[in-house]
Amino acid sequence: MAEQAKSPGLARNLISQAGLVIAIVALANLAFLIVLDATQTRANPYLGILAWIVAPAILIFGLAVYFLGMLIERRRRRKRGAELAAFPVIDLNRRRTRIVAISSIVGIILFAIISAAGSYQAYHYTDSDAFCGTACHQVMHPEYTAYKLSPHARVGCVGCHIGSGATWFVKSKLSGSYQVYAALANKYPRPIPSPVKNLRPAQDTCEQCHWPEKFFGAQLKVFNHYAYDETSTPHEVRMLIKTGGGSPSGGLTAGIHWHMNIANEITYVATDEHRQQIPWVRMTDRRSGKVTEFLAEGSKLTPAQIAAAPKRRMDCVDCHNRPTHIYLSPDRAVDRALLAGTIDRALPYAKQQAVAVLAKDYGSTPEAMRAIATDFPSYYRKNYPSAPKASVDGAVATLQKIFTSTRFPEMRVDWRTHPDNVGHFMSLGCFRCHDDQHVSAGGKRISKECTVCHTVLAGTQANAQFEHPVDLGDLRAVNCADCHTGGGM
Ligand code: HEC
Ligand code: HEC
Ligand code: HEC
Ligand code: HEC
Ligand code: HEC
Ligand code: HEC
Repeated sequence: MAEQAKSPGLARNLISQAGLVIAIVALANLAFLIVLDATQTRANPYLGILAWIVAPAILIFGLAVYFLGMLIERRRRRKRGAELAAFPVIDLNRRRTRIVAISSIVGIILFAIISAAGSYQAYHYTDSDAFCGTACHQVMHPEYTAYKLSPHARVGCVGCHIGSGATWFVKSKLSGSYQVYAALANKYPRPIPSPVKNLRPAQDTCEQCHWPEKFFGAQLKVFNHYAYDETSTPHEVRMLIKTGGGSPSGGLTAGIHWHMNIANEITYVATDEHRQQIPWVRMTDRRSGKVTEFLAEGSKLTPAQIAAAPKRRMDCVDCHNRPTHIYLSPDRAVDRALLAGTIDRALPYAKQQAVAVLAKDYGSTPEAMRAIATDFPSYYRKNYPSAPKASVDGAVATLQKIFTSTRFPEMRVDWRTHPDNVGHFMSLGCFRCHDDQHVSAGGKRISKECTVCHTVLAGTQANAQFEHPVDLGDLRAVNCADCHTGGGM
């Protein structure tokens, strides 16, 4: 540092000093934001972005400018013919140099510790539900709202979308950076499409919590329906759903989770984006090595096309594609409200009117709020002036709440956006394959027989057939979703 003692230090230039100012300001802000972030109980997502991503980035930028300025200055002095050694001469016998050297080392160690802690925080922060669900605000508002009301509300987004391990972590951060950019540049698709193309296989996510071998036997499930008539007549369907089959060691190997049995492998070809049209299915029994291929009757796929088509191995998400982002249909949501009593069933045509006002398409959420608040009461004023005002007002409040948690006109998301593949009531679901029309070379069909999957409990009688309220003839010949669209009858 002999030269520097004589001539002014390399950092004495405008660029470096600007960099220094930027770094100091960023550091002061960083300290302030960290204190704020640590003391606030209700974390604000924007605070997190500023504290753990933006402020450190500016700090590093400031330091980079500082050193860049020194480099430029050095080159400038060289050009002017100044004698500069290739490296600074450090003479630890000089008191000043000693002080500078020791404080630099301490400074570097401190910076390393702080940035390690900072990156750990940044890592945690970008993995948090607040960041995933609310930082991009409008973009993931539908997914976040539905998730918050679902059975998985306490499972982090990353539990299903990333899982553990370094590879998927890096993959997710790479695609995540693009998504942050897309959100900032307003370049994201509305709605965000499903299926998610590169969703991590369920073995590494769902199966970390749900153990496939556990599935056996059947489960009672009660479906509460209300008719579209004047009294909104209740119609309860109680069914034993045969959810077993997860493991051959459990004894029973039949049942719905048989598909997930380690010994079975189902692979299929879908010809549409939402995987609703499935013309070809292959079943492999790994124990016997037996392979059975089913082709939909009337399918025009040639063997060459099938061989060339992208195939998907069935996993949990091929049935449970809505485990947490559940957008209830107006029909289902109103059934639940009638069951809970938040919509008064004593109001004539309560179900019909409630579904009608919920299923209509509105340009925006505020517009829907206004329409619900005027249209629903006006029907009762006109037709049933004696209907109690408290019931009508209560229903309006409930309907507005249902709307804001199930329909998102701004992102074009509602119950029709992502067909639910569990069941077969409002979308094809199981009937994508189980339609009596997928045939193997040996003449075997993937069955639509109602009792393959469940038995209806009627009164004390088990094994009852499901009685449809309107006579439709052979129920195996129809698809429920053709009439039951979720938006009214
Ligand atoms: C229980 C597991 C689970 C959790 C927890 C979860 N997701 Fe999902 N997510 C899924 C599945 C399954 C899909 C649909 C995959 C498909 O259809 O291919 C999905 C799809 C999505 C989609 C695509 C649009 C859509 O609705 O299909 C977005 C966006 C999304 N999730 C965001 C989030 C965010 C943000 C969180 C946390 C607030 C979160 N997810 C938590 C399982 C989960
Ligand atoms: C971090 C653990 C965890 C992960 C990962 C997870 N789940 Fe769950 N899941 C749970 C818990 C806990 C419950 C029970 C919630 C309750 O009953 O309140 C549950 C409940 C369920 C239910 C029953 C829902 C109901 O209506 O009662 C289904 C179906 C399900 N999970 C499927 C999935 C699928 C599919 C995935 C992967 C996309 C997945 N889970 C990932 C913990 C997890
Ligand atoms: C041809 C049209 C059509 C088909 C196909 C159809 N339904 Fe229905 N379903 C109706 C009508 C109409 C009602 C009576 C609606 C009302 O007034 O509430 C009804 C009522 C019901 C109800 C009683 C709840 C209610 O809303 O009243 C259930 C449960 C039901 N259907 C299940 C099914 C199932 C399961 C399938 C498929 C196997 C199916 N439906 C196929 C037209 C159909
Ligand atoms: C062939 C479609 C299908 C596949 C594949 C599938 N499930 Fe299911 N699962 C169902 C059906 C149908 C139910 C019945 C409950 C219902 O109607 O919600 C169910 C119920 C469940 C339940 C709640 C009941 C229980 O027994 O605890 C959980 C949890 C669950 N599945 C997790 C999984 C996981 C994890 C996987 C992947 C290993 C998986 N499922 C694969 C169709 C499927
Ligand atoms: C991708 C096609 C596909 C889909 C989707 C599908 N399955 Fe299957 N499923 C099959 C095939 C193939 C078989 C075997 C048929 C056979 O051996 O006759 C089967 C068999 C079954 C069996 C009988 C298992 C046994 O041996 O006892 C049940 C129960 C079942 N499926 C339930 C469901 C339910 C419930 C759904 C919807 C949640 C569903 N499946 C969706 C392809 C599918
Ligand atoms: C491949 C399996 C499978 C077959 C075949 C099948 N179902 Fe289902 N069904 C299901 C599953 C799974 C559910 C539960 C869905 C859920 O939990 O939301 C269901 C639900 C229902 C419900 C309650 C609907 C609701 O959401 O309220 C009725 C009613 C019903 N099935 C009738 C029938 C009838 C009638 C047949 C015969 C024509 C039939 N099912 C054939 C798997 C099947």
